[in-house]
Amino acid sequence: MAGRFPPEFKVDVLERTDIVGVINARLPLKRAGSIYKACCPFHDEKTPSFTVTPSRQTYHCFGCGVHGNAIDFLIEHDRLSFLEAVEELAQQAGLEVPAGSETTHPGPDLRPLFDLLDQAAALYRQQLRRHPQAPRAVEYLKGRGLTGEVAAAFGLGYAPPGWDFLLGSLGGDLPVRERLLQSGLVIEQDGRRYDRFRDRVMFPIRDRRGRIIGFGGRVLGNEKPKYLNSPETPVFHKGRELYGLYEAQEANRRLDRLLVVEGYMDVIALSQFGIPYVVATLGTATSTEHLKLLLRCAPELVFCFDGDRAGRDAAWKALETALPLATGRQQVRFLFLPEGDDPDTLVRREGRDGFEQRLGAATPLSDFLFDRLAEQVDMSSLDGRARLATLAKPLLDKVPSGVFRDMLGTRLADLVGVARNRLNTVTGFGRRPAGRQTERSRLTLTPLRLAVALLLQQPRLACRLQGLGEDWRQLEKPGVGLLSALLDLIAAYPDITTGALVERWRQNDEGSFVQRLADPAILADRAADGQEAELLGALEALNQEAREVELEKLYQETSLSEFGENEEKRRLLQELLTGRRHNTP
Ligand code: UTP
Ligand code: MN
Repeated sequence: MAGRFPPEFKVDVLERTDIVGVINARLPLKRAGSIYKACCPFHDEKTPSFTVTPSRQTYHCFGCGVHGNAIDFLIEHDRLSFLEAVEELAQQAGLEVPAGSETTHPGPDLRPLFDLLDQAAALYRQQLRRHPQAPRAVEYLKGRGLTGEVAAAFGLGYAPPGWDFLLGSLGGDLPVRERLLQSGLVIEQDGRRYDRFRDRVMFPIRDRRGRIIGFGGRVLGNEKPKYLNSPETPVFHKGRELYGLYEAQEANRRLDRLLVVEGYMDVIALSQFGIPYVVATLGTATSTEHLKLLLRCAPELVFCFDGDRAGRDAAWKALETALPLATGRQQVRFLFLPEGDDPDTLVRREGRDGFEQRLGAATPLSDFLFDRLAEQVDMSSLDGRARLATLAKPLLDKVPSGVFRDMLGTRLADLVGVARNRLNTVTGFGRRPAGRQTERSRLTLTPLRLAVALLLQQPRLACRLQGLGEDWRQLEKPGVGLLSALLDLIAAYPDITTGALVERWRQNDEGSFVQRLADPAILADRAADGQEAELLGALEALNQEAREVELEKLYQETSLSEFGENEEKRRLLQELLTGRRHNTP
């Protein structure tokens, strides 16, 4: 995941990219004065509120709030990963990806492998119609209630019995034979090679771009193992991929909700019954990478688990994975199924409406968290409730600070029996209305933040700073390094845009801070023509602060008599007091 390009490379790429061209190739834009407009591709609307601003090299939708630079657009719109998006733009700009960066194609070209997997999937589909044994597979699928339509939508196929179907159909030349091995479709043992999947119903697994990256195969009867899956390969990583995500996004580009289930058949049955917003992990626990991906795809996640002990334990694991990512912006809930049911059987019995009713009543993450903890203590005693607080503390600490964590804290206080009112007044701990607006207004614009915000939003203001002292660079406090780096970057790229600047700090600890300060709303109530003066004022205030720090230090290490004797110190004192620096000869 930690794939990175050198930061200058991203800047170079964005420098040579015109966001208008990138977006216009995918979504026709109409010029409106100095900006461009279109109907937003990320939500349904009739009047255009999606805007592209060439001077900032950013897009922003006033309807649904999406915003970002050219890289973000490709990630959201083309569903590329971050690395793929940068590569795509680099390619268009004619830039070579620097050697040594971890890219989506490390080392050898993976396209032949994708092609091979695609050919295999086509063969399996064909065999489902043609092979003499195929009617057994078709009967099996019909017996499970699948329609031909949904089988086609998920590209289901049939791997015939025998040991060398794929080898015989595809494995003519040596490179292909090697690739069959590499793709996991063929296994080598004791010097013999044979097909991994034999006499099984085949479920192709696609990545977000729709490319086939692996397969699951189910037996037609009760043999073991019930499912075989592709092994980890250069293109298939179980901990990262979700079965059905591509299909879910094909059904609806802007998903309001995603349901996470366990099985291939669950995904397909739900989809057939009108619940196409469903994915499955591939026989593994939900990983952090899964969760990050899911949270980027939909504002609401519902995890489906068996109602039994094992299901609840698995749900708890998912909860623990989710806590560090829980900001409250997305809802995470848990649906526990009746004993003996899985989503497949349940939706067939209760239909879409019944199932969606259950979804609507799914347990919020916070309820599941506190209910489960409360089960472990005696809530009727003071000691028990105190113990609840002890159990909850390390879990709440995992949640990023913000509205959601505050809410969980309030809830805990309620349960433990501390009056919320008192807690509120003492610590300011309590319910606040959720949403970005509050977070934004809580960010006080200190001189440092103001300077950063102004430079992010109007990089060209930097050229007005010539001659201004830079004492502030000595300050040892958070944000000074950011401000320094920001000015250095603008000095190196005088025409750099807001979009490119924000990019520089993506995946960085300061990334979300930079994002917020780049938001025009944060400077909204300031006069547009006073920005130069504001920037100078902010930096001057920082210079002053730096001088005060130095002055304090000077006083502490120098006795009064020393000032009398030491001319250098006397001059330094004078400079610091007057704010005027002289060049020492
Ligand atoms: P389940 O055992 O719940 O199977 O496994 P299921 O999906 O309900 O299967 P059907 O309805 O009997 O066809 C859930 C998931 O765990 C993985 C698969 O991804 C499966 O979909 N699994 C299960 C395996 O990888 N191998 C197995 O042998 C069993
Ligand atoms: Mn099942």
